[in-house]
Amino acid sequence: MRESKKNILCGTQMKQKIVLAYSGGLDTSVAIKWIQKKYNAEVISVIVDVGQSKDLVIAEEKAKKLGVLTHYTIDAKQEFLTDYVFPAIKANAMYEGKYPISTALSRPLIASKLVEIAKKESANGVAHGCTGKGNDQVRFDITIKSLDPNLKIIAPVREWGLSREEEIEFAKKNGIPLPKDSNVAYSVDQNLWGRSIECGVLENPMEEPPEDVYQWTKSQSEAPDKEEYISIKFENGKPIAINGKELNGLELIERISAIAGKHGIGRIDHMENRIVGIKSREVYECPAAKLLIEAHMDLEKLVLTRHEFRFKQQVDVEWSSLAYSGLWMDPLKSALDAFIEETQQRVTGEVKIKLYKGNCYIVGRYSDFSLYDIDLATYGPKTTFDQSWSLGFIEIWGLPTTVANIKKRNLLKNPAK
Ligand code: ARG
Repeated sequence: MRESKKNILCGTQMKQKIVLAYSGGLDTSVAIKWIQKKYNAEVISVIVDVGQSKDLVIAEEKAKKLGVLTHYTIDAKQEFLTDYVFPAIKANAMYEGKYPISTALSRPLIASKLVEIAKKESANGVAHGCTGKGNDQVRFDITIKSLDPNLKIIAPVREWGLSREEEIEFAKKNGIPLPKDSNVAYSVDQNLWGRSIECGVLENPMEEPPEDVYQWTKSQSEAPDKEEYISIKFENGKPIAINGKELNGLELIERISAIAGKHGIGRIDHMENRIVGIKSREVYECPAAKLLIEAHMDLEKLVLTRHEFRFKQQVDVEWSSLAYSGLWMDPLKSALDAFIEETQQRVTGEVKIKLYKGNCYIVGRYSDFSLYDIDLATYGPKTTFDQSWSLGFIEIWGLPTTVANIKKRNLLKNPAK
């Protein structure tokens, strides 16, 4: 944790202290000045590094120029991976079947860091740059309230009611540097698990996303004309090696992201149901998430019983929905975590994947815990499965269905009075 402090003389009355989640972008830069003025408060800026791979030093300098009392840059990449991304892989987390909840996962972590710094600095409140229309405000606020209900929560963008033009005007008046044009066409949020792109032409759901929204993935036409094979090893549901080489988690995700991105894998364009009731068109690129979740789920199919897998699919949907919806800290989430963790004890093995023109195909899998029994499955002459067993089984399994249909036909012939 890097920290830099400026001494201040507050006069006789101590000013309020507000800890702000700072990104270096226009909204949170304006927020620094706005909080200082509106609340007559000192601002402590915090950048939580979750792999957004922006120049965080430039952002830190910017915050200091805007007169923050103290600045923190917290490297939380490893924590993000271990406590948020790995659990999401184990839960095959895909909100509404499409979105690997990359932005959503980072929010409770950033919120918890704000609360941590607020305690350390004896601050009165915390602030974030979320609007009043999105999911992120819900995620921040509920996590903060769960951790410390006494902290004041300030969401300047939700409160100030400024149009974009008024915000730019405010920025100019207060000496806040404006972003270059190329950076304002879209609203982007990124971390090591994915990139989310919103606004501009993307607000028309019928308009194909222009090529310039994508930075991590190639288009299908630019992807290599030759397929590539890779293998991924999992241990207790966590990816640990690629092509037989063990890598630390961060290197592994970076590597998979680069390989999958090169083949155009992980572009997502879908209609999403937000927590606040709005439908929105969302565009993402999540190459590593797409590939790892496909591979992980395939391995689960090899090692979990049919009953476990069927139930886990429901748990996965519920887990993803809780994480998406700002309920990361709900006891139901921990209870589902316990179930998921138990199932992952056997999710150890290797998956072979073919990457080609925007698609990843699982083409092989192996595990010491495999429940696949070739002697049962084979159509060859030597099998341990006696086909005569099926007769009696079908009688009993289908009994409720066949009885109901007989009854229905009888009623059609002789309607009940
Ligand atoms: N809709 C996504 C979510 O709720 C992404 C929001 C990210 N924000 C952005 N400025 N692109 O998780």
